[in-house]
Amino acid sequence: MVKITATGAPCGAHVTEVDLTEPLGAETAAALRAGLDEHHVLVFPNQELTNHDLERFSETFGALGRDPWFVPIEGSDYIAEVRRDADETSRLFAEGWHSDWSFLDTPPVATCLYGIDIPPVGGDTLFANQHLAYERLPDDLRDQVDGVLATHTDRNIYGEGGMHDPDNEGEQGRTMNIVARREPTDGEHPLVRMHEGNGRPAFYSTAGYIQGIVGMDDAEARALLRAVHRHQIADEVIYRHTWQPNMAVVWDNRSVLHKATGGYEGHSRLLRRTTILPEPIS
Ligand code: SIN
Repeated sequence: MVKITATGAPCGAHVTEVDLTEPLGAETAAALRAGLDEHHVLVFPNQELTNHDLERFSETFGALGRDPWFVPIEGSDYIAEVRRDADETSRLFAEGWHSDWSFLDTPPVATCLYGIDIPPVGGDTLFANQHLAYERLPDDLRDQVDGVLATHTDRNIYGEGGMHDPDNEGEQGRTMNIVARREPTDGEHPLVRMHEGNGRPAFYSTAGYIQGIVGMDDAEARALLRAVHRHQIADEVIYRHTWQPNMAVVWDNRSVLHKATGGYEGHSRLLRRTTILPEPIS
């Protein structure tokens, strides 16, 4: 029977005694979904997955999503590569805290990354538990965030002149297949959302994709978002994940923020990624 062991950090659990190269039975799949609701990040070491295995496994948590911000790898409509060559000098991808594609009306519930080429040092991924961040919030700040609607956009990251515009300093020589200079996509979501799986409130997304607050002037919104951000990424809510080759990690975009870290200059790093959309799961 699949074994789920908490990391002891503010989120995350290791999952063993399961073979992801085989279709999962209904009981195991239900245990994994419940494990994700409880721990928010699930780590599966020692799994030698083909692209097909990765797609099938990802569907345990919802429906595979096409990702218009990346060109998928050859042979798959759903898998993208998060890659960096050893001599690459482009800005680190995903180095800011975020929840994946939070600017969409229906954003992905989860994301799966699968480690292929993992540097011997650095390249950890950080996860920040947003249920815990909300619970730890001082009462006066909580009164200000409850019921507030945040506006999100990808304009500053993927739009013309945005972070990933190929003309931007920091983009030269990027090996990752990012689709930039896109028409902006905008959305609105409560800053604090009730998680459908575990019924607990959590902050949803953060600066980078969040631009403002409906009905609040820009300066006031910026001040509030800055105050909240400090709590969203406090040391006390963070799990630092260290990768190994053949390791799959699934995280819940509704309950954690995540970010990439560097520290592996001179080494390459390659992971494959799927995004997982909400879908009624039978
Ligand atoms: C991502 O946000 O998809 C990438 C995270 C990482 O490279 O660690």
